[in-house]
Amino acid sequence: MSGEGRGSAEQRALDLEKTADWYRRFRRLETPGQSELYADWAGGIETDAEVLRLIITLPRPKRQPNLIFASARLLGAPLAAYPVVREWLIEHWPAVAAEALVRATQTNEPRRLTAIMPILAAIGPRVALIEVGASAGLCLYPDRYSYDYSGQRVDPADGPSPVLLQADTTGPVPLPAHPPEVLWRAGIDLNPLDVRDPADVRWLQTLVWPEQTERRRRLDAALDIVRRDPPHLVRGDAAGGLEALVARAPEGVPLVIVSPAVLVYLAPADREAFADSVTALGRWISLDGAGVLPRVDAQLPQAPVPGDYTVSLDGRPVARCGAHGQTLDWLAG
Ligand SMILES: C[S@@+](CC[C@H](N)C(=O)[O-])C[C@H]1O[C@@H](n2cnc3c(N)ncnc32)[C@H](O)[C@@H]1O
Repeated sequence: MSGEGRGSAEQRALDLEKTADWYRRFRRLETPGQSELYADWAGGIETDAEVLRLIITLPRPKRQPNLIFASARLLGAPLAAYPVVREWLIEHWPAVAAEALVRATQTNEPRRLTAIMPILAAIGPRVALIEVGASAGLCLYPDRYSYDYSGQRVDPADGPSPVLLQADTTGPVPLPAHPPEVLWRAGIDLNPLDVRDPADVRWLQTLVWPEQTERRRRLDAALDIVRRDPPHLVRGDAAGGLEALVARAPEGVPLVIVSPAVLVYLAPADREAFADSVTALGRWISLDGAGVLPRVDAQLPQAPVPGDYTVSLDGRPVARCGAHGQTLDWLAG
């Protein structure tokens, strides 16, 4: 075997090991209480050399369990136990790989607004809002949804919304009487999704995990609301495209830039550059997993562990929260 051959064989072995580990971590950290089916699929793949060999033919970011599973489901993979889905996956691999190559995980979860809305309300009763990594823009409508914080309701000024975002809370969450009014809203995304496009809507629906029927209902109800007044979304990169959008924001009202569940997709140096520059453009609310913004993690009373999420204002932690906004633990002070 030539030196190059040996090198690439070692690289392949390393790729297989890392991919197996990715599926193992996904199963252990992300699926508990969320999807037994995805836990079963991920558990099957992590020890299945034949399927792992197919997956590593994709570029590294495209090997993500969530992306492979959603691409397979979009193409009709049976919602069945791993041995059945394995046969399907092997037979349909070229189509699954092609789908994964043109798609990205763009899960749009309005429930994350349970963590963001009280901070927005503290900034002002009326705000202008820009979302970075907006997906289809469902998080740009905090004023159109109802909220339930461990039994305490917050409804829009004109009455309850068909979309109820619920969070289990601890600590002194400062709840307003009504969500703040959003006078102007816009979003930026590498690949904005259009709530009026059936193909985009189907992808958003497929990104909801199989057993999550309540999430699916919430997604469909939020889509109904947003479809009546679709947001202004521009295609662009968080790392460089924000200033042009900021220039269009109205004056005389606080501009708030929100970045829920997006900075993780940026290279660490780009995240730092974003965090350094964004507060010169407006107030900044972010919602991120442990390790994404070390400057925020460093200020938490306890070091976060994988799976923990924090919502922050202008780089300072405000609350711990669930990845999808299902819990909110307000930090003292
Ligand atoms: C997990 S989704 C979150 C969507 C939305 N913020 C939410 O919380 O529901 C991440 C979104 O960020 C977008 N994205 C990833 N990297 C980006 C970048 N460098 N610049 C702009 N958007 C990006 C993706 O296309 C995707 O729509």
